Amino acid sequence: MKHPLKGRSLLNLEDFSPEEIRYLLDLSMRVKEESRSGDVQSRFAGKTLAMLFEKRSTRTRAAFETAFGEEAGHPVFLSTQDIQLGAKETIEDTARVLGRMFSIIEFRGFKQEVVQALSDYSGVPVINGLTDLYHPTQALADIMTLEEEAGPLKGKKLAFVGDGRNNVSRSLMIISAKMGVDFAVGAPTSLQPDPEFLRQTEIYRRNSGAALHVTDDPQAAVEGADAVYTDVWVSMGEESAESERLSLLKPYQVNESLMKSSGKDSTIFLHCLPAVKGNEVTTGVFEGPASRVFEEAENRKHTIKAVMLAVLGSEK
Ligand code: CP
Ligand code: NVA
Repeated sequence: MKHPLKGRSLLNLEDFSPEEIRYLLDLSMRVKEESRSGDVQSRFAGKTLAMLFEKRSTRTRAAFETAFGEEAGHPVFLSTQDIQLGAKETIEDTARVLGRMFSIIEFRGFKQEVVQALSDYSGVPVINGLTDLYHPTQALADIMTLEEEAGPLKGKKLAFVGDGRNNVSRSLMIISAKMGVDFAVGAPTSLQPDPEFLRQTEIYRRNSGAALHVTDDPQAAVEGADAVYTDVWVSMGEESAESERLSLLKPYQVNESLMKSSGKDSTIFLHCLPAVKGNEVTTGVFEGPASRVFEEAENRKHTIKAVMLAVLGSEK
C-alpha cells in the first residue's frame, strides 16, 4: 500500500504496530541517506506546520522546524505563552481553528489529554513532541541509533537507569517491547514504572519475545546491555521534587564503573539530552568513546522528517 500512515497522528507509540514502526525507521534511514548526499527535495511544498510549545525545547523545535522548512514547507512556532490555547479559548476550539490553517500540528506540553484533543478536533495529523507521559519521536530516534550502532534490533538489550517512570523511559519501554528489544529499568522503587503500565505493555512483549527486567540495582539492570540510557533526574514540570530526586538517584549515576557492569566493550551510552553532567551522567562517560548522544540528537531530525512525510502522505 502506498502511504500507509497518511492521515495518522503520532500521540503515543502504543497506537503503532511493529510493522508501522519498522516502516518509520526504514523511512528515517532513507531520509538520513538523502540528507548525507545533499538530496533535499520540496516534499512539504504548499504545506504548513503549527509548532505548539508549552515547555522549552532545543532539539525537538529545531528538528521540526528545519526538517519542514528545508523541504519547502512553512513551519510556524506558536509558544503557548503567546496564543490563546487553554487560557482564553478551549483546546477544542483552538484545534478546530488550527486545523483550517495548518496541514499538520506538533504539540509539546504537560497533559497527554491536550495532544489527544488537538488530534480529535483539528482534523489534521498531530505529533506529540513530548508530554508528561510520553516522548514518542525521541524513542524512534533512540531505537534508530541503537540499530545503527548495534545491528538488527531483535534480542538487543537497552538499559534505562534513573527516573524509570518518566516520559522517555515509558516510550522506550513501549518501542522496545514492540520491536523485540530486551528492556531493563534500574531505578529506586518509588521511581519504577507503575505496575498497570507494565501490565499494559506485556502483550507487546509476548508478541515480540522481548524481555523486561525492573530492578532497583543499577548494576543488574545494565548487565549484558548493548546500550545504557539515562535522562535528567528532574523532568520539566517537576522542579519542586529536585532535592528529593538528587538524593534518591545519586546511586544511579551512569559513570565509568556502571558502564563496565555491562560486561561488554561495545556497549554504547545514550541520552535524549539536555544532560546535567555530574548528576545522571559523568562528563567522562558523556564525552567518552561509548557516547553516541550527538548521533542520537541528529537522528531526531531524520525520524521527525520521516514521521511528517509519512503522515502527510508525502513520502516517495
Ligand atoms: N531531547 C529533547 O526532546 O530535547 P529538547 O527538549 O531540547 O527538545
Ligand atoms: N524527561 C525529560 C525529557 C526532556 C527531553 C523532561 O520531560 O524534561
